[in-house]
Amino acid sequence: MAYTVDKNQLCVDGVALSDIADAVATPTYVYSADVMTTQYHNLENAMVRNLPADQQPLLCYACKANSNIAVLSLLRSLGSGLEIVSGGELHRGLRAGFNPKHIVMTGVGKQRQEIIDCLEAGIKQFNVESLPELEHIQNVASDIGKKATVVFRLNPNVSGGGHDKISTGRERDKFGLNLENVHNAYAMAQDMSHVEAIGLSMHIGSQVFQVLSFRKAFETLPDIVKGLRDKGYNVSSLDIGGGFPIQYNDEELLDLDAYAEWVGQIIAPLGTDIIMEPGRYLVGNAGVLLTKTLYTKHTRERDFLILDAAMNDLIRPTLYDAYHGIEKVSKDGEDEETFYDVVGPICETGDTFSKDRALPVMKTGDLVVIKEAGAYGMCMASNYNTRGLPAEVLVQDGAFHVIRKRQSVDEILDKDIVPDHLK
Ligand SMILES: Cc1ncc(COP(=O)(O)O)c(C=O)c1O
Repeated sequence: MAYTVDKNQLCVDGVALSDIADAVATPTYVYSADVMTTQYHNLENAMVRNLPADQQPLLCYACKANSNIAVLSLLRSLGSGLEIVSGGELHRGLRAGFNPKHIVMTGVGKQRQEIIDCLEAGIKQFNVESLPELEHIQNVASDIGKKATVVFRLNPNVSGGGHDKISTGRERDKFGLNLENVHNAYAMAQDMSHVEAIGLSMHIGSQVFQVLSFRKAFETLPDIVKGLRDKGYNVSSLDIGGGFPIQYNDEELLDLDAYAEWVGQIIAPLGTDIIMEPGRYLVGNAGVLLTKTLYTKHTRERDFLILDAAMNDLIRPTLYDAYHGIEKVSKDGEDEETFYDVVGPICETGDTFSKDRALPVMKTGDLVVIKEAGAYGMCMASNYNTRGLPAEVLVQDGAFHVIRKRQSVDEILDKDIVPDHLK
């Protein structure tokens, strides 16, 4: 995010965050189109530098990270494909104008209607995660007279991921098939009339900052691919997942060229099409959660900074013990610092963004940004405590655009139905 200070106000890509708060109120997610564009090009260019021209990967943005349709449209305009995990994400992708042939569907619990919608849209492939799911896809495809292209998600039994809850590549995790079942799946698919198996996929986790885990997982592939090809199975596509880490605090950044070199040395010689599924990397550093100080509260033990944003707006700190930078928006009179527990208004002690954070002394009304909140922020927000979902804003070319309106309380209440006898 390109932060600057103008007239003592923190700005994002030249736009004052205080102007956004005045116009849209808080809490509001603010995204930088420029950062998303730069991140996309960084990844794309590393691949261009390290992979043969005829084996450039299809980058399928994992839209679970941030699925606002304007964000999807921006990434689509840069040339991205899409990774989806639900029918809802399929429809977001179609609304954003993605070519269905650039959409891959993953997820351990694909449902009949989702499979039908994907088949009718004509998506590129399903990444299959279990044998019963393979049978289900065959049955659904047969019912509607379509053929499903599938790859099998290999669980390489490699530990990766910045937190236990986002590590997906160990055999004890619910994801993917072990090698024996990949062979079983290929054997089953050979006898299926409405399924065509064309390869493998793999995704070992998210925020994988032990980056050698990627190489370790890739290194399992050549023997596996050979073993499958020796049996006459088609392995012409490899989806090597996402998981690229970003910097929240002082994490070591992934050297994209080193990563691309591993892909070039280990995967490219297998002669397959290559797909990647970057999520967080494209959008994580491109967003902040803009929020306002409601109160400061002093107790004998601690000082609390109580914000109008809460764990329902950004759950990462309490769900994953995640660190996010926190900064005051106004730069007036910042000399005096103190330590705050930065919390939201929700009735849970876990509604804490940070403990003992050094910040300028704050007062009611002071704006604050919670940084690096572009990924797994808004898309995980909930209505807990009957709080409306925040607004979202995209900053682009020196202007800001509301890309999602704040949800009103009436919009939440209108879903509830009171039976007549309780009225
Ligand atoms: C199958 C799959 N692909 C891609 C991703 C995106 O991961 P990340 O946002 O870490 O790149 C995920 C997220 O967990 C995933 O489950």
